[in-house]
Order: sequence, then structure tokens, then C-alpha cells
Amino acid sequence: TGAITLDPGYKNTGSCESAITFLDGEKGILRYRGYSIEELAEKADFLEVAYLLIFGELPTETQLQKFNTDILDQSIVNEDMKTVLKGFPESAHPMGVLSSLTSALTAFNPKSVNVDSEEDMYKAIVKILAKFPVLAAWTLRKKNNQNLYNKDTNIGYVESLLKMMFQEDNKKNYKLNKTVVNALDKLLILHADHEQNCSTSTVRIVGSSHAGLFASISAGVSALWGPLHGGANQAVIEMLEEIKADGGDTSKFIAKAKDKDDPFRLMGFGHRVYKNFDPRAKIIKKAADEVLGQLGVEDPILEIAKGLEKAALEDQYFIDRKLYPNVDFYSGIIYRAMGIPTEMFTVMFAVGRLPGWIAQWREMRLRKEPIGRPRQVYIGETHRKFKDIANR
Ligand code: CMC
Repeated sequence: TGAITLDPGYKNTGSCESAITFLDGEKGILRYRGYSIEELAEKADFLEVAYLLIFGELPTETQLQKFNTDILDQSIVNEDMKTVLKGFPESAHPMGVLSSLTSALTAFNPKSVNVDSEEDMYKAIVKILAKFPVLAAWTLRKKNNQNLYNKDTNIGYVESLLKMMFQEDNKKNYKLNKTVVNALDKLLILHADHEQNCSTSTVRIVGSSHAGLFASISAGVSALWGPLHGGANQAVIEMLEEIKADGGDTSKFIAKAKDKDDPFRLMGFGHRVYKNFDPRAKIIKKAADEVLGQLGVEDPILEIAKGLEKAALEDQYFIDRKLYPNVDFYSGIIYRAMGIPTEMFTVMFAVGRLPGWIAQWREMRLRKEPIGRPRQVYIGETHRKFKDIANR
């Protein structure tokens, strides 16, 4: 067996070989299957990017159409799932609800668990791509105590997500806003994959026991929820709100973030891999200005965010540790301008990350990777003699 190398947080451990996403943290490069994130965010749509990530190539017109039709064919969510949803209290966080509902899908689709052939794998993939946005929208409807809708199969993937979320109960039509659709499409693309991050590693490790795609995705949702990972997008807005309520002075919060006795961290700042800038944050910052301008939204917290970014980037603590704004720093400001409630931000991230989770899970299964099972360095007691309860 030999000596075990200790690497807490897997900072220097490659857990797999992968051909999906390339990331250069020093140069701030992110590519899906060789295509730069800047170009994809500009020219592709979310479903095309999902296809690219999962199957390795940009789809032809015919491939994309078939993919879309296969997804639409699976988009109805079993009525009994509504009973599951009904049991949750209104106060439930949408991420907890989403993870539970995704897990419940396994019960309603037992055949999707055993996926030993590529064909069965494909069926499970289109199923989850179809039903996950419905479940995501339902978590919001539940909060708002509104009717639950299935997908509108006549409109696009992103459009139908928005409609399922915001369609008013007493109105037939939902007017889609092009700026909102385009902005959401771009945000979802920017979140679609990011190699072996916490939730993706979770999906791969759960999947490595052959637990099935839906169970693996449900675990991924739970991992994403944490504020050090996807939950940061909610935490950023809450932090900016706090700064605003406090009078807008950012220096106090910078000082708190630097104080090692204070658990407070500057949310939306820092990254395990990016040490110069996060290319996604650059695109999102620009998009935030554009989208708020186009929607005519004036949000005072955008100015606070910009001020906070500037102050942090000029501060020696952040310079020394190479801490820059990450993808989550400005994304919440755009979600907010679209009318998406703060508690739903991480759900939007999950919808965006879904194709990445699927692609990584599929790659792992196709490569017949062994079960994920790290070792440890034991630091506990050595051999002890059992003591009777009377003598302890
Ligand atoms: N505010 C203040 N100090 C920080 C921050 C921050 N946001 N991030 C890192 N540091 C400090 C940290 O205290 C440590 O200092 P020292 O060397 O003096 O002990 C140093 O920088 C290195 O940090 P680390 O915690 O060892 O780095 P990590 O790679 O383990 O953690 C991180 C990366 C993203 C979890 C962390 O930067 C963080 O907590 N950021 C805030 C939460 C956040 O925005 N998360 C979203 C990440 S990007 C999207 C996603 O993953 O979903």
C-alpha cells in the first residue's frame, strides 16, 4: 500500500482525466471542449452548450433539433411529485426542495437508475434535462403559493423556464422579455461547467458507486448550496444589502474580511483556481451594466459592489492572496434586475450547472472509472482495552 499523501481539500490532487473543461487559473482561461467561454457566451445558446459539454461537439441543426425534441418529450413531471412538494413548509429553502425533488425523481423513474448502456444513459440524460427546470420553477411557485405549470413546449428551454417561474395564475399569456431571456441564457452558459469543483466532484463520486444519474445530481445540488460554493451568489447580495443598510461604507467590511478572528469573508471573492481574474466575472460585470441599462433598473447595490471591488483590489491583503471577484460577485445583481428572488439564485446556478454535472457523470461512466474512495491518515488513539461501563 505504501505511504499515503495527505492533501486536505484536494488542493493538489487530480481526481480524474477529463476532456470536458479546460481551466488555466494563472491566465484566466476557461474553455468548454476547446471553445472559449467568451465566444460561447456571445454566440451560442444554452441548449447548444449543454449538447457540446455532454457529447463533445457543437450540434448540427438536425442534432440540436432531435436533442430538443427528445427533451420536450420527457418534460411532463409526474403529478404525484406535486404531493411531495406540497409536504414542504413554505419557509423551506428552494435548494433543499430542489435536491429533495430531484431525489424523488428516482422513485418515479426507477428504470433511470440502471444505465449500463449508452442508450439508457441518453434516456436518463434527456429526462433530467427536461424535468429539472420544471422542478426548479416549482420551488419558486411553492414559495409564492402559486399554481404549478409544466413546460410550454412551443418555446425555448430558457424561455419556458422563465414562463414556468413567472406566469401569473390568472393570466393566459406571459410576455417574454428578450433582454431577460438573453441575459439568463448567458448566465446559464457561464455556469454550465467548471471542471472538478465541489459539486461536480460530488456528482462524480456519488455516480462512481453506480447510484444513478438523478441521485448523483441531487447530491450535486446539495453540495452547490453551500455559501463557499454556489450559495455565494445569495450570500453576496445579502452582504451588499447589509453594507447598504449600514450606510454604504465598504471599508468596515474589508477590515472584517481581513480580520482572522472574524469568520466573515468577502463573499464573491477568491477562487481555488483563478489567481489573476475569473473570466466569467469579467463577462458578468459587463453584462450587469448592460442588462440593468436595458431593463431601466437602477440598483444602488451595483454601485456598492463596484466600490467594494475597487477597494478590495487596491488592498494589500487581497493583492497578496490573489483574491479577485468570482462568477458569483455580479451574477446576483443581474438575477435581481430580472425579478428573481434572492433565495432562488443558487437554484438558477444549479440549472446552469446541470449539463456540466451530466457531462462529467457520463464521462466517468463511459471511462469505467473505479469507485471514488479516498484514503486518510489516521491520527486517533492506538489500540485500547475495553473498559466496563462501571469503570469509565
Ligand atoms: N475574503 C477574505 N479572505 C479570503 C477570502 C475572502 N473571500 N477568500 C480567501 N481568503 C483568504 C483566506 O483566509 C486565506 O488567507 P490566509 O492565507 O491568510 O489563511 C487565503 O485567502 C487563501 O484562502 P483559502 O480559503 O485557503 O482558499 P481556498 O482555495 O480554500 O478557498 C474559496 C476558495 C472560494 C472557498 C474562498 O476564496 C472563499 O471562501 N470565498 C468566498 C466564497 C465565494 O465567493 N465562493 C464562490 C467561489 S466561485 C463559484 C463557485 O465555486 O460556486
